[in-house]
Amino acid sequence: MNNKMWGGRFASGPDAIMEKIGASIDFDWHLYRQDIAASKAHAEMLAKAGIIAADDAEKIAHGLDTILSEIGSGTFEFKRSLEDIHMNVESRLAELIGAAAGRLHTARSRNDQVATDFRLWMRERIDDIWGLLGDYQRALAEKALAHANTVMPGFTHLQSAQPVTFGHHLLAYVEMAARDRGRFADAQTRLNESPLGAAALAGTSFPIDRDMTAEALEFARPMANSLDAVSDRDFVMETLAAASITAIHLSRFAEEIIIWTSPLVGLVKLSDKFTTGSSIMPQKRNPDAAELVKGKTGRVIGALNAIFVVMKGLPLAYGRDMQEDKEGTIDALSTIAMCIDAMTGMVRDMEPDTARMRKAAGAGYSTATDLADWLVLTLKIPFREAHHVTGQIVAKAAETDVPLHRLPLAEMQKIEQRITNDVFEVLSVDRSVKSRVSYGGTAPKNVRAQARKWLKKLDKERE
Ligand code: ARG
Repeated sequence: MNNKMWGGRFASGPDAIMEKIGASIDFDWHLYRQDIAASKAHAEMLAKAGIIAADDAEKIAHGLDTILSEIGSGTFEFKRSLEDIHMNVESRLAELIGAAAGRLHTARSRNDQVATDFRLWMRERIDDIWGLLGDYQRALAEKALAHANTVMPGFTHLQSAQPVTFGHHLLAYVEMAARDRGRFADAQTRLNESPLGAAALAGTSFPIDRDMTAEALEFARPMANSLDAVSDRDFVMETLAAASITAIHLSRFAEEIIIWTSPLVGLVKLSDKFTTGSSIMPQKRNPDAAELVKGKTGRVIGALNAIFVVMKGLPLAYGRDMQEDKEGTIDALSTIAMCIDAMTGMVRDMEPDTARMRKAAGAGYSTATDLADWLVLTLKIPFREAHHVTGQIVAKAAETDVPLHRLPLAEMQKIEQRITNDVFEVLSVDRSVKSRVSYGGTAPKNVRAQARKWLKKLDKERE
């Protein structure tokens, strides 16, 4: 059978494999709400501009509403032979209202239609993700406030470096999520222009009002160049780049959770809700959710790579290649939403083993920098020299396998005779974190202030 939407000049219908490779309905049905909203706006504008009759526009609007509820309730029959969401909707419209349906496609093309639908769809997904990231930040900030005093080892090279607070560590992810939200918001602002009315590529001779449809669909303005309007997918790349960076941030945290919950480390415990057992080893508590968040990063970055490759080397304007913009994107954005949600749940339920954290925080001579700083401050020794002296003291302590605060003063004085008993005050992990009061530092009072600042900000957003 010929395609009734464009089959006029064709003697035969498509080969089965042509139909299969050409169909996008299996994934672009996701755009049905946007497709119907854009068609309603278009029909209303056509009537207002005197391009179609008012009663035809009314029939079209009613028919589209019926289709919306049919799809919503699952009674709509999607047909692969109709390729995509646009033609599935229009074909059903013809069944419902007859000839008037044929007037809807005046002064538009599927090229501006799909670009419009996809931008509208993306705009909504960004709203969802933005909200989920806010919930994630709240969970982190609440936990950070509860653990502003909880000392843990801070690492560089995954080697004990200096003690930090658990709250401070969690707040690092709040900051990352804030920038992620900023990237999504920027992408959303830039994509919020209407391609509708660009038609196939050159615009149209009909006296359409692109401002009117842009406004009806809450776009900031119509896109200024019809070729650009139908042919760029930079908004897809930009949003997927934001999603990929977010995924990478989540993935780093997920890996930390995996390390922290390993029995070899044991700094954090995940709740039963976010662990799974093994079918053979009864003792196991596996951090599967964290592992999957990490693993799913591949899908998100994969979708970004795919759209890069699809778009490179595509001449203006529309090319069918671009139909490949949707499947991976739809998957990637629902994946990132799920990952954010899973991380929020894990953060809410995770509990640090504070005793183990404290012990680990002091291990590995983690307060050596505090000793060096004390030498600089109290004895006015230049930092480089103090570093060297401290290194010798650490080596001495290591010889007898004692922590710095257990090394006898006399031993320290053998290396630097001016050291006094006061030095022991800075060698504890609590003193160490408490002293890190520089802006952005790990001191509990900084952490409390920052956590409260974030919680207040997030509360305001909800108002
Ligand atoms: N399904 C198509 C896509 O996603 C819609 C546009 C088709 N345009 C065309 N000229 N064949 O890109």
